[in-house]
Amino acid sequence: MADPGSLAEPGTPEAELLSRVDLARLPRHVAIIMDGNGRWARQRHLPRVEGHRAGVAAVRDTVEAAARLGLEHLTLYAFSVENWKRPRAEVWTLMNLLKEYLRREIDTLVRHDIRFAPIGRWRELDPSVVATLERGIAATAGCRGMRFNIALNYSGRCEIVDACRSIVAEFAAGRRVEIDEATLSRSLYTAGQPDPDLLIRTSGEMRVSNFLLWQIAYSEIRVTPVLWPDFRRRHLLEAVLDFQGRERRFGGVGEEAGDDAGTPEPAVRPDAAGA
Ligand code: FPP
Repeated sequence: MADPGSLAEPGTPEAELLSRVDLARLPRHVAIIMDGNGRWARQRHLPRVEGHRAGVAAVRDTVEAAARLGLEHLTLYAFSVENWKRPRAEVWTLMNLLKEYLRREIDTLVRHDIRFAPIGRWRELDPSVVATLERGIAATAGCRGMRFNIALNYSGRCEIVDACRSIVAEFAAGRRVEIDEATLSRSLYTAGQPDPDLLIRTSGEMRVSNFLLWQIAYSEIRVTPVLWPDFRRRHLLEAVLDFQGRERRFGGVGEEAGDDAGTPEPAVRPDAAGA
């Protein structure tokens, strides 16, 4: 449930950041590439899995803060299709952390009116993980606050392939389907949700790593050097403030330039590509 005031104790750095956030202009959808768990562990001479374990606390704080702030959608990239290349023990730990997180946090998610939804080819995961995810979906199905997507066994390219397959299946079932951007968007795992306004990547890496490839076409990107296990609500607030300072043009011209009375009609159709 949105309650920005409950995000920060008065007099704290978080309260100061919050006071500068324009609550009427929040990004509707924030997506996060959680990166740097391994490096966080290495800096402490710990096994990599300890970085993932510490990353769970960052997930907990970020999800709660995002809901309190009033974001409508939060998408976290937890496990990619490519992550199967990691050592078996690391994959096993990640799956167990996920199950443990959900078992422990379900009540908190419900209390905050957060609706949980895995995205990706998550039904191909171990049956024990699938069962836990299904329990999470069922328990939060009635929640009407923030939608919390976890990308699991996810790949942006696979998502586009799966969308194409479902469109072909509609054709095969005899339905008339237009092949256009709207049809593709509503065939994605994120159907019905707005595209991310803001994409955050931790640990300083400048890559999109096969994440929400269709949906991030016009997302603002913030890369922070903070390693994921150190990420907390203040970093989310900093990212939102950065976002609010950006001018979004969606391929058009800036607001000031657009005010120019002499601006001619667009020379190309409005849905054509632009940078
Ligand atoms: C990237 O760090 C992180 C991951 C591949 C997994 C993220 C998982 C968690 C935060 C914990 C469990 C998640 C949930 C939702 C409870 P990396 O290992 O690639 O770091 P490195 O680049 O420093 O090696």
